[in-house]
Amino acid sequence: MQASLPLVAGLAALALGGCGLGKQSTLSPAGPVAQAQLSMFYESLAIMAVIFIVVAAVFVYSLIRFRARKTDTELPKQVHGSTALEIAWTLIPMIIIVILSISTVHYAFVLETPATGPDTVQVQVIGHQYWWEFRYPGTGVVTANQVHIPVGRKVNFSLQSADVVHSFWVPELGGKTDLIPGRTNTLWLEASKPGLYDGQCAQLCGPGHAYMKFTVLAQSSAAYHQWLRHMERDTVQVSTPLERAGLALFQQDCATCHTIHGTPFDGKVGPNLTALMQRPTIAAGTLPDTTQGLTAWLHDPPAVKPGAKMPDLGLSRSQIRSLVAFLQTLK
Ligand code: CUA
Repeated sequence: MQASLPLVAGLAALALGGCGLGKQSTLSPAGPVAQAQLSMFYESLAIMAVIFIVVAAVFVYSLIRFRARKTDTELPKQVHGSTALEIAWTLIPMIIIVILSISTVHYAFVLETPATGPDTVQVQVIGHQYWWEFRYPGTGVVTANQVHIPVGRKVNFSLQSADVVHSFWVPELGGKTDLIPGRTNTLWLEASKPGLYDGQCAQLCGPGHAYMKFTVLAQSSAAYHQWLRHMERDTVQVSTPLERAGLALFQQDCATCHTIHGTPFDGKVGPNLTALMQRPTIAAGTLPDTTQGLTAWLHDPPAVKPGAKMPDLGLSRSQIRSLVAFLQTLK
């Protein structure tokens, strides 16, 4: 009992930390895809449980029934091979695998077939080391690391990569599907209730992999369309001298890599920063989108996120202050 305490504590920590209910848990589905995937998990779990119980029972029975006894004077009958047994333990696993694969293969086809109908939404996803780009075809809207979707409508995600293999995964909504350079994969998801769902790159893609997160904001259809319109308007309005200094600095140091809708800045290397302040985090979920977060990021990006393509620009404190002031006008 004493020895098992650390084990129990460890398992509890794993259950609460890594796989607990809540954020980034496949056990709390918030849409039909995640629900279907969870059902498949339970189906496999039930089959595995039956196998475990049968094997454990046979094992325990054999341990007791075929124990060497004090009265035994010679070896039990020695046998080599059993055709019936060989056939049984080849066929039974095959049948189990076929049963398990039926729903898996079925859902693999269902999920990768783009949803149709007038209500479906299209979102183009481009994976970068180490951030996510989201484009809304038919509009000029491009954003990064936070994708807005309407509740109760199927969203077709077309998945592409700008560099290496990434994997698109929103545990509470469904997934995961790889983003492979040179091809387009598809996946549809649907959120059945409003909320902010955490996503994560699920394919080791370099030193910044663990910092390649994003959020899905599922909102009412009206709020979603209002957001799209908001993103398309000309956004930049600087008023204070500090903000104006930041704007000038942005033009000089940042505009080759970043786009801001409504300005001449149209760099394509880094994330599109239009309405940056609407996002809960920056640097793909690494830092909060606050004065402190922006300051820490601008001070030394690769120190915050290993492998980040944005270099340490060697900005002074006052330069960072003005840039942060300007970035915070992007609402
Ligand atoms: Cu992208 Cu891991």
